[in-house]
Amino acid sequence: MNVTLSVIKADIGSVGGHIRPSAKLLEAVRETVSEGGKRFLIDAYIGFTGDDVAILMSHRGRVGDARVHKLAWDAFLAGTEVAKAQGLYGAGQDLLKDSFSGNVKGMGPAVAEMEVEERPNEPFLLFAADKTDPGAYNLPCYLAFADPMVSSGLILSPKVGKGFTFRIMDVAHTEGDRVIDLSAPEDLYDIAALLRDQERFVVESIRSRATGEIAVSVSTTRLHNIAGKYTGKDDPVMLVRTQGNFPATGEVLAPFTIGHFVAGFMRGSHHGALMPVPRNTGTSFFDGPPIVSCLAFSVKNGKFTEPADAFDHPYWEYVRTRVSAKSEELRRQGFFGPAMLPYSELEYGGIVDRLKGMESRFRTGKEKETAGA
Ligand code: F6R
Ligand code: MG
Ligand code: MG
Repeated sequence: MNVTLSVIKADIGSVGGHIRPSAKLLEAVRETVSEGGKRFLIDAYIGFTGDDVAILMSHRGRVGDARVHKLAWDAFLAGTEVAKAQGLYGAGQDLLKDSFSGNVKGMGPAVAEMEVEERPNEPFLLFAADKTDPGAYNLPCYLAFADPMVSSGLILSPKVGKGFTFRIMDVAHTEGDRVIDLSAPEDLYDIAALLRDQERFVVESIRSRATGEIAVSVSTTRLHNIAGKYTGKDDPVMLVRTQGNFPATGEVLAPFTIGHFVAGFMRGSHHGALMPVPRNTGTSFFDGPPIVSCLAFSVKNGKFTEPADAFDHPYWEYVRTRVSAKSEELRRQGFFGPAMLPYSELEYGGIVDRLKGMESRFRTGKEKETAGA
């Protein structure tokens, strides 16, 4: 029986800056989803990571189902009303359009969906990241689905060993979805050549080559491509099916020990090491650090179990200490070089004005001679 998993998330306001949504805001989102979803949702789960609220839903509709998208939009509107009433910071921040037009894609919220032929046992993972953008998942996807140094299933399991097809999106192309399908292991170097540039090329989905089944779906929204100005980082969500024909849950989690440097952090304009955190963790140091949570679910006939909190385990305490040390080292050099994002990725317009303001004060060699004469 087919079931569709949809996760839609947005930043609609938070307590004390960009730290976390309020309990009342979450309640309003929860109530709207449970009331409005009675007729067509099988199940739903609502949680937060940093200042972002994620709504996970299961249903029998297709990917992009208008009722499901409208429900999430309405829930975020209800949450925004509470955010305004409580004076939360950035109320309705990610709701970039005034009226709903059938699908929340391109309206601000991040969306990852997959329609699956439910297996007799169906484990999947919900990743949600804050203070970073969708390219943050490039390296973990590459390592879990294409690198046997991390993912032993690629050499130990015949089905996993058939490899995976990566659909990679060029997120700089805003006129439409520009994608390429590349298969590991044959196209490994081409995949690596694209995924290294995490601001331009982003894993959109991954499929098993053994069965054609979908394994991964990532939200690929770039907010500043929609709004044309800074509105916050894109704070991506990702769904990953695990076990059997796919990498094991632990193989998908393994790359997150690296704490790789990602774009985001303070004012969406810096690099920081991505820290795996338990669910419902807020942000702190330097409006960060960039964080990622992972909830593991099992699903039967579309009904979810309670989530198992994958990064809430003693193993990750050591990882978090190491990841903090990485960010600390980079923060010590303030705005210099790789600590801050390149000019094209800076999300605050102020520096553009600053550079423009200096334009007339620059002199070329020739003018200098004239000026000196
Ligand atoms: C990053 C983020 C924060 C804000 C910062 C300044 O995603 O949301 O780092 O950029 O707190 O916020 P404003 O400019 O709204 O005062
Ligand atoms: Mg925010
Ligand atoms: Mg956020």
